[in-house]
Amino acid sequence: MDKIAFTIDGSDIVADRGTTILEAALQNGIYIPHLCYHPALKPSGVCRLCIVETGEGQLVISCRTPVEEGIVVKVKSPEVDKVRRAFVELLIANHHTDCRNCPSNRHCELQRVMAYLRISKKRMRPLRLPKEELPLETLNPFFDYDPNRCVLCGICVQACEDVQGVSALKFVGRGYSTKIAFFGDKSQCESCRECMLKCPVGALLAKGDQKKV
Ligand code: FES
Repeated sequence: MDKIAFTIDGSDIVADRGTTILEAALQNGIYIPHLCYHPALKPSGVCRLCIVETGEGQLVISCRTPVEEGIVVKVKSPEVDKVRRAFVELLIANHHTDCRNCPSNRHCELQRVMAYLRISKKRMRPLRLPKEELPLETLNPFFDYDPNRCVLCGICVQACEDVQGVSALKFVGRGYSTKIAFFGDKSQCESCRECMLKCPVGALLAKGDQKKV
């Protein structure tokens, strides 16, 4: 396959033509924060955390941008940091959960992004506006959904549609009240667990796991 040579934060990288910047970075052990990317799914570009700088200060979403010969990619730059931090803080503001009681604690992609950006618990507290805690949704016979933990990355919806071809999950509502809902006839869900396995933050968990400490 045709090879493309370029740099990421000063490191020389060679990747197959058609590879995205995010894929090439991860293949070479370079972490770019991401939440809605999963290697088994088509990149949706929803979370925008994977932004990087290319060339003349241009900001691009690395999960949807293919590598080009000679481009100079910056994962860390003051501009990238500023924009990425704003996206993450918005997510944190809507991610109302106590990490200590979450089954995904220490395996959570949002925690990983926060650690990368050095967002401390002290900084997190004022970001979280007082908000009513939403009830755990238990309609599905196989998993429970916690809207307080959901970051609306859409991975579960996509996994259900693209991997299983089932569409048992979908987004409902608008703006701040957007959430994931179990859709249609209960028999549509085949309990494949793809949505739970791919959820980056522990919003979808097998029955009973939500209360695990
Ligand atoms: Fe690229 Fe979410 S990982 S936009």
